[in-house]
Amino acid sequence: MSARLVVLLAVTASLGVVAVGQEAQIPQSVSDYSCSGTNFTDGSQYEKNLDNLVSTMSTAAAANGNGWFRSGSVGAAPDQASGLIMCYADSNVTECLDCLRNATRGDLKGVCPHSRGMSINYGGCLLRYAETPFLGTADTSGWLASWWTPAPNTTDMATMNETRWRLLSGLTESVGDQPLRFLNGSQAYTDVLGKGQVVYGLVQCTRDLPPSECTSCLKFQLRAASDPDMVNSTDGSVKGFSCYLRYQLNDPIDINAALHRRPPAMSARLLILLTVTASLSVVAVGNDDAQQVPASVSFYTCSSTNYTHGGKYEKNLNNLVSTLSTEAAANGNGWFRSVSVGASPYKASGLIMCYADTSVAECQDCLRNVSRGDLQGVCPQKKSMSVNYGGCLLRYSDEPFLGIADVSRWLATWWPPEAMDVASMNKTRWWLLSQLAESAGDQHLRFLNGSQAYTRTWLGTRR
Ligand SMILES: *[C@@H]1O[C@H](CO)[C@@H](O)[C@H](O)[C@H]1NC(C)=O
Ligand SMILES: *[C@@H]1O[C@H](CO)[C@@H](O)[C@H](O)[C@H]1NC(C)=O
Ligand SMILES: *[C@@H]1O[C@H](CO)[C@@H](O)[C@H](O)[C@H]1NC(C)=O
Ligand SMILES: *[C@@H]1O[C@H](CO)[C@@H](O)[C@H](O)[C@H]1NC(C)=O
Ligand SMILES: *[C@@H]1O[C@H](CO)[C@@H](O)[C@H](O)[C@H]1NC(C)=O
Ligand SMILES: *[C@@H]1O[C@H](CO)[C@@H](O)[C@H](O)[C@H]1NC(C)=O
Ligand SMILES: *[C@@H]1O[C@H](CO)[C@@H](O)[C@H](O)[C@H]1NC(C)=O
Ligand SMILES: *[C@@H]1O[C@H](CO)[C@@H](O)[C@H](O)[C@H]1NC(C)=O
Ligand SMILES: *[C@@H]1O[C@H](CO)[C@@H](O)[C@H](O)[C@H]1NC(C)=O
Ligand SMILES: *[C@@H]1O[C@H](CO)[C@@H](O)[C@H](O)[C@H]1NC(C)=O
Ligand SMILES: *[C@@H]1O[C@H](CO)[C@@H](O)[C@H](O)[C@H]1NC(C)=O
Repeated sequence: MSARLVVLLAVTASLGVVAVGQEAQIPQSVSDYSCSGTNFTDGSQYEKNLDNLVSTMSTAAAANGNGWFRSGSVGAAPDQASGLIMCYADSNVTECLDCLRNATRGDLKGVCPHSRGMSINYGGCLLRYAETPFLGTADTSGWLASWWTPAPNTTDMATMNETRWRLLSGLTESVGDQPLRFLNGSQAYTDVLGKGQVVYGLVQCTRDLPPSECTSCLKFQLRAASDPDMVNSTDGSVKGFSCYLRYQLNDPIDINAALHRRPPAMSARLLILLTVTASLSVVAVGNDDAQQVPASVSFYTCSSTNYTHGGKYEKNLNNLVSTLSTEAAANGNGWFRSVSVGASPYKASGLIMCYADTSVAECQDCLRNVSRGDLQGVCPQKKSMSVNYGGCLLRYSDEPFLGIADVSRWLATWWPPEAMDVASMNKTRWWLLSQLAESAGDQHLRFLNGSQAYTRTWLGTRR
């Protein structure tokens, strides 16, 4: 409580940057920013590219496990917009997601209206964009330093300063080699009174920077942290638009462990598209009897004809479904079975299959549930049905259908783009899946997996 928080905004004189606090409408979460470039006009191609860039980057940075960072560019010169977005390694998941989400919502418009270029430090994340390529080059034009005056009873400033310097210099030299471009560490020392002390440090660069740029950016900030104003502080940070440095005495810095992990599925956006060809009289998901459909059913179709309760067809069907699921689960024949039971006109034919990427436990669970009559809730009394559970597929009918592909409908799900070089990704994906599609038919078990590497092209990247 007795310590004092000091904030210093340092800007090199040659830049026409706008300092914090000049405009009333700037959100509080904005700690520092600079605008650059000329203005774009409303509705221009540049504005469209910029909107696209910012929303793609923030969605991708929030959705995937790639360490809360994204860089990329959209469009072609002269309307090309390049940018990056990054959460600070010591911001927690909530704060980071909140920050990324807000960055897409056009808060920026209040900050740098119509400006073609901008760098902005929110509390938890950093957003930059420009019309000229800047990725790969550190911006050391300005920084925001904040620190606390020495904690009470801290003695031996000389040793503290020296230890801090040694720790942060070491981190600065090594962080460039880190794929996620951040590094934390600590350094213990004994002060003149014989008391043990520990300095904790964190350094981080934006991930577009090559090692040398990252290190030189941090060296620049380390000098700022050694200014007379800050030299005796026991808790401080220097935030720029390309790198970040923080230190604390006797108080570990929380690193966001989730930097390495995919965030909870709920916070990402899973897109689901159900496509139905118009010519079919199928029952779609979400109709009146949707309430009793189990959650594991992802989509299904039913025929229009009913069987009679207690009739021969129903008996054959019960026999069919239980045989299918038992045999598919019991033998080693690749979790597939197709069978017919009975004779016309009460003959029931069917197949059951687990998806090749389903785990054994999930597959067995799925096959077991199918035999338990969940289906009756899905298509009560219907003679034919196709149903996709999460892990397996069941089809049956009174009409012969084995040997004929049903391409009448499908359920597509996907994650928002994680790659900026969509063209190369799409080309590679198309090539790979085409090859697999050509060869899968010859496979005894009718499945095939594969992979194809490609090199991303970063439009607008300098190195
Ligand atoms: C750019 O747009 C802002 C706000 O729309 C305006 O205040 C500023 O004068 C413009 N700058 C130039 C150089 O046109
Ligand atoms: C995340 O950080 C914010 C801002 O510092 C803080 O208010 C919040 O309590 C933190 N949440 C967790 C789960 O640590
Ligand atoms: C995000 O926006 C909401 C609503 O305007 C605001 O309450 C919150 O503080 C913002 N968070 C950040 C990190 O900017
Ligand atoms: C600082 O030292 C004094 C005297 O030894 C002690 O009374 C006080 O509690 C200490 N303050 C802190 C924050 O440790
Ligand atoms: C802090 O430590 C650095 C590195 O040892 C040194 O260059 C600098 O002069 C020190 N500053 C003070 C005020 O002791
Ligand atoms: C870095 O931070 C993590 C998480 O806060 C911590 O577990 C780890 O010990 C730290 N590493 C060092 C070298 O201090
Ligand atoms: C830092 O602390 C030392 C020792 O307490 C003191 O001699 C020195 O004047 C302080 N430096 C500044 C810039 O306040
Ligand atoms: C088929 O059975 C369902 C459920 O038992 C019933 O609601 C429906 O009216 C029946 N349709 C025909 C054509 O009999
Ligand atoms: C199987 O049924 C059980 C009990 O109704 C349910 O908890 C589980 O999620 C179902 N599993 C699948 C894969 O449908
Ligand atoms: C994706 O690749 C396929 C095959 O090369 C091509 O036909 C299609 O137009 C591409 N789509 C986009 C959006 O680039
Ligand atoms: C196919 O999947 C298996 C099992 O996950 C894996 O070991 C193998 O490497 C994959 N094959 C290719 C070509 O990716």
